[in-house]
Amino acid sequence: MAQVEFKNVVKDYGAFQAVKGVTFTVEDGEFVALVGPSGCGKTTTLNLIAGLLDLSDGEISISGRRINDLDPKDRDIAMVFQNYALYPNKTVGENLGFPLRMRKVPKAELNDKVNQAASLLDISHLLDRYPRELSGGQQQRVALGRALVRDPQVFLMDEPLSNLDAKLRVQMRAELTRFHKELNATVIYVTHDQLEAMTMADKMAVMNGGVLHQYDTPERVFEEPANLFVAGFVGSPAMNLLPASRIERDGQTFATGDRWEIALSERNASCARRSTSDQIVLGARHSSITIHEARTPNCIPARVYTVEPTGDLTYVHIEVGETRLVISTDPQSQITAGQDVWIDLEQERMHVFDAKSELRIRPE
Ligand SMILES: Nc1ncnc2c1ncn2[C@@H]1O[C@H](COP(=O)(O)OP(=O)(O)OP(=O)(O)O)[C@@H](O)[C@H]1O
Ligand SMILES: [Mg+2]
Repeated sequence: MAQVEFKNVVKDYGAFQAVKGVTFTVEDGEFVALVGPSGCGKTTTLNLIAGLLDLSDGEISISGRRINDLDPKDRDIAMVFQNYALYPNKTVGENLGFPLRMRKVPKAELNDKVNQAASLLDISHLLDRYPRELSGGQQQRVALGRALVRDPQVFLMDEPLSNLDAKLRVQMRAELTRFHKELNATVIYVTHDQLEAMTMADKMAVMNGGVLHQYDTPERVFEEPANLFVAGFVGSPAMNLLPASRIERDGQTFATGDRWEIALSERNASCARRSTSDQIVLGARHSSITIHEARTPNCIPARVYTVEPTGDLTYVHIEVGETRLVISTDPQSQITAGQDVWIDLEQERMHVFDAKSELRIRPE
């Protein structure tokens, strides 16, 4: 297995820069989830590693060896694409065995490996069918199987579970996690699914507009987002972000907005004082805000926009001026749309961001 290192990697498509100087290292055996909004450069990044695209600048190395100019077939990488690219004229069995046949693996070993992968992915009964005779989810599993049988240095996966139904996704997620642990494989995995990233990955790489905003464990990305973008992207629902101004009065620090003001705890006041201007943004997870139905001291007046029961939890969408927040409450709550409420931000779990630099200010 292998370590993958990015150094200031840049990719230009003509005048458009899709990857803007990305640096990070995937350690040997790590499972990294690459996340970010559509068009942020995830597939481009994978294609650069696989050698399907040339770098415009920077360097990629695998286990210390620079691979910029190495032929794709010499990189020992298996890629599972967003669209599965199966060979239409080969059966499922032939598709699975093809990478091994190219490497002249003996027939018995080839059959063993194909059967093993097919059983892992629950497609043993489909080995004689052609790709056109499969559902989207089944095709996706064949594509995964074809990567598995190769036992490469690095796996690159571009949303490999996106076409599966919810139940199969959960099952495949567990299978992939187990397979990663068993093979101790180095995996770079693109997903739109926050839960997949949080549950499967050792590290998360969060990209936006070709820039890598944070590279850290899922826990750290969730608990200590580097900036407003990461805070507003990671988590489902994402962190609530409330713009505010810092004011000092009578030796006390307050955050104020349009017709509201709350006193900040010493921890948050010291963060707010380190902002480059008096403009800050308060961040609060949906579970760290309490809703009161009557006026309560040091709370922010708001109006309920809509109430969304999901079974275990009810999400209450509220408006503070122009800002929409999502708060989780217990399903027994009697709160209804249009109601005036007062919200209480739990100070211990609150985050303070610098509105100008957009960076999170760490508590001291
Ligand atoms: N061949 C190309 N020529 C010009 N621009 C391209 C080309 N391929 C991709 N792009 C642009 O580069 C950016 C990054 O594309 P990329 O496919 O890497 O995004 P992505 O993060 O994988 O998005 P998605 O989540 O939708 O798959 C996009 O703005 C896209 O329009
Ligand atoms: Mg993509």
